[in-house]
Amino acid sequence: MTHAVITGTGLFTPPHAIDNADLVASFNAWVDAENARRAEAGVEEPLAHSSSDFIVKASGIHSRYVMDAEGILDPERMRPRLSPRGNDEPSIQCEMGLTAAHQALDAAGVAAGDIDLVIVACSNLERPYPAVAVELQAALGAGGYAFDMNVACSSATFAIETAANAIRAGSIRRALVVNPEICSAHLNFRDRDSHFIFGDACTALVLESDEVASAESRFEILGTRLTTRFSNAIRNNAGFLDRVTDSDPLATDRLFVQEGRRVFKEVCPLVAALITDHLASLELAGDDLARLWLHQANRHMNDLIARRVLGHAPDAEQAPIILDRYANTSSAGSIIAFHLHRHDLSPGALGVVCSFGAGYSAGSVVVRRQ
Ligand SMILES: CC(C)(COP(=O)(O)OP(=O)(O)OC[C@H]1O[C@@H](n2cnc3c(N)ncnc32)[C@H](O)[C@@H]1OP(=O)(O)O)[C@@H](O)C(=O)NCCC(=O)NCCS
Repeated sequence: MTHAVITGTGLFTPPHAIDNADLVASFNAWVDAENARRAEAGVEEPLAHSSSDFIVKASGIHSRYVMDAEGILDPERMRPRLSPRGNDEPSIQCEMGLTAAHQALDAAGVAAGDIDLVIVACSNLERPYPAVAVELQAALGAGGYAFDMNVACSSATFAIETAANAIRAGSIRRALVVNPEICSAHLNFRDRDSHFIFGDACTALVLESDEVASAESRFEILGTRLTTRFSNAIRNNAGFLDRVTDSDPLATDRLFVQEGRRVFKEVCPLVAALITDHLASLELAGDDLARLWLHQANRHMNDLIARRVLGHAPDAEQAPIILDRYANTSSAGSIIAFHLHRHDLSPGALGVVCSFGAGYSAGSVVVRRQ
């Protein structure tokens, strides 16, 4: 039987980093100006300042990379400023994807023309159509077919299952999965509860049939398992009907909104059970895992999930954290962890790539180093 193997990964990291101190200073400058406006208008309840100490304690995030820092840090604007692109120019997500994809192809030793399927999978796509994936396919010179998909933070694992199934079914031999996340564009930088949560990044993975793979370092996909459960606890109401429902396109519910504490409480048990049941179906247990490459939203969530799966507290190597530098990069997070923290594993070592997020949606991909 044909097995799907991951043979290469790539990572595009945006040029600008914003640490908590700078982010909080800009937020607090806006709060002071807003409170002055409120006082003048007779509003009694002032807005509260944000704090770097709270951010680190509550989430583990110290810094994030973004496509544009200046617009975000300007208290008069507080959103990134990205140049519009004409139809004949490469789109922003295509450009991010090209950098990550070339790295992944080089690592796999695969020519772009040998790719049969390109999936662009992420939380937010910069347009409905034509698919960014088809644009990326053309820009790379890849063959076959391409499409976009969105399963929020679980977009990468759901795309991995889609690609692995196509390989196992024999309909393709090689796939490229790309996750260009511009989370700073859907984040409300004026919301104290969430302004620190997200960062931008793009990851790429090459998956191949083991019959054609030539890379020395490869990870066989032993199995994938996906789950969804409807919840409004993470929601973004932006959509193409805004124009015809006469909705305010700048309303705050047209951005990321969450009940963070509820998400924490509901998602951790769901994810721990997903991984544990998935391992059991493969006749494996938590203590067989050398590594967990978990979604990167909150380090306490990752500690709790890893503890439940492993049966003991994870050490830093077992469940690597990258959200301290990257913050939550949505679907790219667990893949960044996989990209940066797998090369030390010995042949035969087992690990799980696991995502979780809006929907709710969660995905588990169990791999073995060959
Ligand atoms: C968002 C998150 C970091 C917030 O941490 P939390 O411990 O739940 O914090 P809470 O929202 O309950 O707020 C706790 C207190 O800190 C305060 N607070 C909130 N934001 C603050 C900020 N930026 N600075 C200072 N204080 C803040 C709150 O007002 C509250 O004060 P109170 O106790 O006096 O009422 C955390 O809930 C989380 O990460 N949840 C999971 C999110 C997730 O995975 N989402 C998926 C996204 S794809």
